[in-house]
Amino acid sequence: MEIAVVGRGHLGSALSRFWTKTGHQVTTLGRDGGDVTRADVLVIAVPAAAIPRALWHVRGYRGAMTIDATNLQGPPPAGHPSLAHLVQSLVGGPVAKAFNTDYALLYDDIERQPIRPSHLYAADAAARPVTEHLIRDIGFTPVFIGDLSRAALLEQHLRLVRAIAGNGYGPHFAWYRLPEDRWG
Ligand SMILES: NC(=O)c1ccc[n+]([C@@H]2O[C@H](COP(=O)([O-])OP(=O)(O)OC[C@H]3O[C@@H](n4cnc5c(N)ncnc54)[C@H](OP(=O)(O)O)[C@@H]3O)[C@@H](O)[C@H]2O)c1
Repeated sequence: MEIAVVGRGHLGSALSRFWTKTGHQVTTLGRDGGDVTRADVLVIAVPAAAIPRALWHVRGYRGAMTIDATNLQGPPPAGHPSLAHLVQSLVGGPVAKAFNTDYALLYDDIERQPIRPSHLYAADAAARPVTEHLIRDIGFTPVFIGDLSRAALLEQHLRLVRAIAGNGYGPHFAWYRLPEDRWG
């Protein structure tokens, strides 16, 4: 797949590293933007407040299938129930909310786990196959929690994850695991 990741920080660079390793052609975009016309999927990995600005210098994104990996830094964006809906209003294609509830710094630990950890995501129907594929390529088992109306739940969920991690249990506690008969 050709993947365009907007954001070259901790998350954007970790996603890019793993997807390059699993055979995808990944382009990361910074503040100077770039052309994403050829991309099969656009991934948003910038601070929430920077989402509209980050797309200013990006060309060819209208209608693209998009994965929004951003997290709320305050209340939901004005006029939208979630950041994923804001992204959808800007891009106009099918959208998934994924990669926002797990810490990128743990990606390298996934392959050492005796049981593959799960990763929660929400998505429009048309965005599901690509999103599941890319979740598996990081090493997780994808767990679909519903259509994009559930994106807000994932954005709010991070507060719980952070509270648990910050209370002495470390970030790994955020990992869910499917029952054995559902591993795939
Ligand atoms: N880190 C994680 O484990 C993790 C996990 C789940 C979700 N997330 C979410 O992913 C997003 C990025 O987090 P992060 O940890 O990767 O942050 P980060 O390390 O601070 O990186 C943010 C990146 O966004 C770029 N950026 C800021 N404004 C931009 C703009 N207008 N146009 C283009 N790029 C812009 C920054 O560029 P400059 O270097 O030029 O400032 C930087 O490369 C956040 O919404 C965060 O909540 C992060």
